[in-house]
Amino acid sequence: MTLRPILIHPDPRLKKIAASVTSVTGTIARLADDMLETMYDAPGIGLAAPQVGVMSRMFVMDCVKEEGDAPRPMVIMNPDVLWLSEDLSTYEEGCLSIPEQFGDVERPASIEMQWLGLDGQTHQQRFNGLWATCVQHELDHLNGKLFIDYLKPMRRQMITRKMAKLKREQARP
Ligand code: NI
Repeated sequence: MTLRPILIHPDPRLKKIAASVTSVTGTIARLADDMLETMYDAPGIGLAAPQVGVMSRMFVMDCVKEEGDAPRPMVIMNPDVLWLSEDLSTYEEGCLSIPEQFGDVERPASIEMQWLGLDGQTHQQRFNGLWATCVQHELDHLNGKLFIDYLKPMRRQMITRKMAKLKREQARP
């Protein structure tokens, strides 16, 4: 497994629509392993392929929070939303591509989704709580959308300027 560098906003690749995964190849399986390792190392609870520069509809997540609980790594490809709850919930979200910035985002509290798994099979499950928020946040990444797109323009611009400055500093020799 290899840690992959995570793209930092602003980056044009984070604004693009990713393409469907056509088949579960060895390359895809290795990418999934790398993405999980990169996510756990960060640490984060979700990571989408465009965040490591791969424009495929694929993300990994593990929202198990309690220390000592068994990890529950999930690899989701070609997700399809089947149902969204009418009731909403608000979480303070962050993103590995927007380090150390957080904002409240309101989303449907539950989501039912269908996707292609690494086993080549179609899976279907309902997600609630933090898992539901994470699923929707990662799905947005596959459509070129970031959590800051839900914030007020002023706040979004402030965060984007901070990130641009951070990237300039990091690029300096
Ligand atoms: Ni994110």
